[in-house]
Amino acid sequence: MTYASLEDIASEIVACTKCDLFRGRKNAVPGEGNPGAKLVIVGEAPGRNEDAMGRPFVGNAGKFLDRYLSLAGIDRKDIFITNAVKCRPPNNRKPTPFEIGQCRPYLIYQLKLVNPRLVLALGVSASSSLGMKFSHLDEIRGKLFDIKLDSLNITVYPTYHPSFPMRFPSKRETFLSDLKRVKEILGKEIRS
Ligand code: URA
Repeated sequence: MTYASLEDIASEIVACTKCDLFRGRKNAVPGEGNPGAKLVIVGEAPGRNEDAMGRPFVGNAGKFLDRYLSLAGIDRKDIFITNAVKCRPPNNRKPTPFEIGQCRPYLIYQLKLVNPRLVLALGVSASSSLGMKFSHLDEIRGKLFDIKLDSLNITVYPTYHPSFPMRFPSKRETFLSDLKRVKEILGKEIRS
């Protein structure tokens, strides 16, 4: 399957029935943002607010993420933001490897079309969806990885999912320093 545009991918996602998550969704959440972004952020899966609005990171974790992005000097308007899984898992459980696998082609095509310099992977599900192998996120957090996924070559920078530093304040400094590092790597290029 090839897609000509992010809108084409989004149309397919909203009609997708490749796993059972479609049964419980109000809205699929394809992702949004600058189609020419130098930075793509990948989260885990939509929660209740995202499912209600069809937009990524609009609930509490999203507000926390926006605040930390802006502390790091990154404007959400400049980036593209999406999730490993595009439909809400029931009761906000973690998406299964099967669900992540069914959704991965959409993520890969989004990345092919946006063609960012860097992909910031938020947490375990995003990092595994992007092909990282690890037993604990701390093994890969805060490091850069050049990854080949199908015919896609990307640089991935894993960090915590924002819900983790939101819940554990002692992790906030590390989360912020990871975001500042991303800003430093991209520099002025963050705005295309
Ligand atoms: N958490 C995520 O991983 N993604 C969202 O869109 C919202 C919360």
